[in-house]
This record gives sequence, C-alpha cells and structure tokens, in this order.
Amino acid sequence: MREEIKRIPSEEIARQRDFARQVRFHPDRPRTYYIVTYGCQMNAHDSEKLAGMLEEMGLTESADRTQADLVLHNTCCIRDNAERKALGNVTWLKEVKKERPEMLIGVCGCMIQQAEMAQKILKQYPFIDLAFGTGNLYRLPEYLLEAVENKDRVVRVDSEASTVPEGLPVHRESAIKAYITVMYGCNNYCSYCIVPYVRGRERSRLADDIVREAEGLVASGVKEIMLLGQNVNSYGLDSDEGVSFAQLLHRVSQTGIERLRFMTSHPKDLSDALIDEMAHNPVIAPHLHLPVQSGSNRILHDMNRRYTREHYLQRVAALRSAMPDIGLTTDLIVAFPGETEQEFMDTVSLVEEVRYDSAYTFIYSPRKGTRAADMPGRIDPAVASERIERLIAAQERITGEVLASMKGQTVRVLVEGASRRRAAQLTGKSGRNINVNFDGSKDDAGTFVNVRITGAGSNTLRGEKED
Ligand code: SAH
Ligand code: SF4
Ligand code: F3S
Repeated sequence: MREEIKRIPSEEIARQRDFARQVRFHPDRPRTYYIVTYGCQMNAHDSEKLAGMLEEMGLTESADRTQADLVLHNTCCIRDNAERKALGNVTWLKEVKKERPEMLIGVCGCMIQQAEMAQKILKQYPFIDLAFGTGNLYRLPEYLLEAVENKDRVVRVDSEASTVPEGLPVHRESAIKAYITVMYGCNNYCSYCIVPYVRGRERSRLADDIVREAEGLVASGVKEIMLLGQNVNSYGLDSDEGVSFAQLLHRVSQTGIERLRFMTSHPKDLSDALIDEMAHNPVIAPHLHLPVQSGSNRILHDMNRRYTREHYLQRVAALRSAMPDIGLTTDLIVAFPGETEQEFMDTVSLVEEVRYDSAYTFIYSPRKGTRAADMPGRIDPAVASERIERLIAAQERITGEVLASMKGQTVRVLVEGASRRRAAQLTGKSGRNINVNFDGSKDDAGTFVNVRITGAGSNTLRGEKED
C-alpha cells in the first residue's frame, strides 16, 4: 500500500519548538553535540537541519567526537560499505561511552528507515540511546526531551517516511553556498536502489516556500544555491501547483542569487524546457549531473531506468548543442547482476563517447528488499574489481584530457577560501563545478573572480587571477 504524503502542519512544528525550549532549560540536557554525516547531499542538508534544531535546544557543536555529550550519526544505506562504515563507527563509540557513560549515542537517517531496523537496534545495539528515521527527523526535540527526562532509550522508527516539514531551523555549514531541498523521496524504483524505500514517496515543496527560502539566503549573503531532489525533473508532478522544475529554476534565479545549481536529473525526464532554461539563464551554472548507470540497453532495462543508451546520447547531444561549454558528470554502476564483458564494455564506450568531466563509479551492491537483489547472475567480486578499475582508468584519462583542454580559458570562480595544500593559495569552483586553485588575497573569499587557466592536475585546475 502506498503511504500518504503528509505535510506537517505549522502547529506541529510549533509544538516541536516548544519541546526544544523545554530541553534548553532542562538541567540534565546535553551541552554539546557532534554530527557524523554519511551519504549524499540530501543527508548533508538534513544534518544542517538536525544541527539547527540542536542549536535551538541550546547545544553547541563540539570539535571532538569523543568529548561531545550527544553524538548523532546521520546514516546512509545506498551500498553495503556505507552501512558497514556507519555501524563500525557507532560500535567504536561504544568503547568511548564506557569511559563517559553520560554520552548519548544517536543514529538516524536512511539506514534507520529500513524495514525491521527498530527491532534490530533494540536487540543488538543496546548502547544506542536515540534512533529515528528520515520522515520523523523534525521530531528530534520531542525525542531528545523524552530521552533526557526519562533517562531511557528512544527508538522511533515508524512508517512515517513521506513527510514535508516546513520551517525547521537550519544551521548551515557555509555562509557562501547553501542547499535547498525542492522535493523529497523518489518514485522511480530503479531495481538496484534502496532510496524509494527509505526516503518515501516523491513529494514537492511548494514553489513559494522554496522561493522564500532562497530570498532569505540571498539576504544573508549566500552566493550560490544548490537545489536538491533525488529526481528534480519530476518536481511538481505530485502537486496541483502546476509549476515545472524549469519554471521553478527560473523563479529561484530571479531572487538575486548569483549562481544556481541543482541535482539530480534523471535522463528519462530531462525536458527540452529545462535545457532551454539552462541555456538562456546566465545564473544557472553550466553543469549537469546526469547519472547514466550503464551503457548497455539490456542492463538499463533490468535496472528499470526506462531509457535507452540512444535516448541518453540524444539528450547529451541536445544539451551540448544548446550549451557547447556545458560540463557533464555521471554515476556508473559496474557488475550489475548478469553483466557480461561486452555489456561492461558498452559502459566504457559510452563514457568515451560522452567525455564526462568526472564520474562516480560504484560496484553493484545488493540491497535487501530491492528487485535486483533477487536477480540471478551475481558477478564474481574479483571480476567486479577488475571492471571498476578499468572504468576508473578510462575516466581518469578523459578527465585529464578535458582539464588540459581548458588551458587558456578564463573561468568564473566562486572563491571558497585557502586551498588545503598551500595556504597562500585560494580555491574555488568554476561554473562547471571544477576546483580551481590560484594565488589571491584572503579578501577574495566569498566573491566571484575571473581566473585564466594556466595548468591542470588530475582533477583540479590552476590559474591566475585576472583584473
Ligand atoms: N537519485 C539519484 C542518485 C541517488 S544514489 C539518481 O537517480 O541518479 C547515487 C548513486 O548511487 C546512483 O546514481 C547509483 O549510481 C549508485 N547506487 C545506488 N544504488 C546502488 C547499489 N545498490 N549498488 C551500487 N551503486 C548504487
Ligand atoms: Fe534510486 Fe533511481 Fe530513485 Fe535515483 S532515481 S534515487 S537511483 S530509485
Ligand atoms: Fe542519500 Fe544514502 Fe539516503 S545516498 S538518500 S543518504 S541512502
């Protein structure tokens, strides 16, 4: 049965704020927090909301995980290694808690939203004090108050996955770049993917709420906004507002924001209207993350991606003909069940044909409850490793060539701050989302500068600031 979409009424958010006040004035409340975030941008942004709620409850961020009063793990379960990493870290913290029994250990996010997780935590992880899923994240104040008052464990992983909470406080990581969620959840059910099960049904925020949030960010000095959704191209299809994603992009671009990005786009839904908006709107960065997953039509079919290699390449051609300088990036999965050597080579040949700026490459990881987990033809791990290495080598060569070809170009860089390698150098991102290092002054941080590219590394560019 399909779960109902639930817009959380403002009275409920107000009730949570009241719980937050009670925590703030509770003598036994935790004083400091540390959030460990796994997974994608959605999770990174959820962590900013969790931090916002914790700050409202009077907690301050700790620089040291082992010294914090509350350590919250915002987990991911997209692949087995993501899950193992999170569980490994949580279990490691159990030893620290033996020394500091007052420490509260919390776990939330996608891993927790999986079926039967609540029982598993209650039985196998008795040192976890607080657990909640993705849909009830907004209830953190209520749960924390309960944990503090009753000095007992709070494990709340109910079926509430498809919520839309508005008006949560957000403690943002950066004053320059910000995320805005435009839609939650996913309806696509790609056969390998757990996201639809742990993030609930597709549900769009109202365009006015999104625009208002963008306006607030612009007023506070933010220079770049990234709009987030698992498949932003289906923005609005679940509501009767009648605003498409291309129209939403246009509206947000009018708020005075200087640079606008978005992810992720599903190739089956990439419309001409969106390409047109990108091509004619100078605020929208010339970059598109367009996950292809595989270059083989048989594999794409079994993945339930609902497009062909030919359709994908046609969309790439349309993008490039409208925007010759657009940078494309992608996600690729190797060793999907039954993948033959020839089918794998179809992915390599697609990568050669598209010439992405960069690609995220993954070995298929079976996820319980998804359709692909029951498909025959599991690929031997040694074959899978060998394939991913060949794919990475091909993409690295292409990335090197693409970057080298940018020498002599002038790119607009949003300066983030000092480069990690050399303190005298600044670093920032070009419109195509490529890291650019150059000599400049600290005053440039948070501004756009024009940089002439003089050299390229394996995945960064070097250049000189132009006057
Ligand atoms: N909504 C986005 C991606 C979300 S997950 C989209 O549709 O593109 C990010 C990436 O993880 C996916 O693009 C896919 O390449 C990879 N991924 C998802 N499930 C996986 C699995 N079971 N094994 C390996 N990689 C997976
Ligand atoms: Fe997963 Fe597919 Fe949805 Fe992306 S579109 S989140 S890969 S089900
Ligand atoms: Fe993101 Fe991982 Fe969840 S990729 S949506 S945090 S399963």
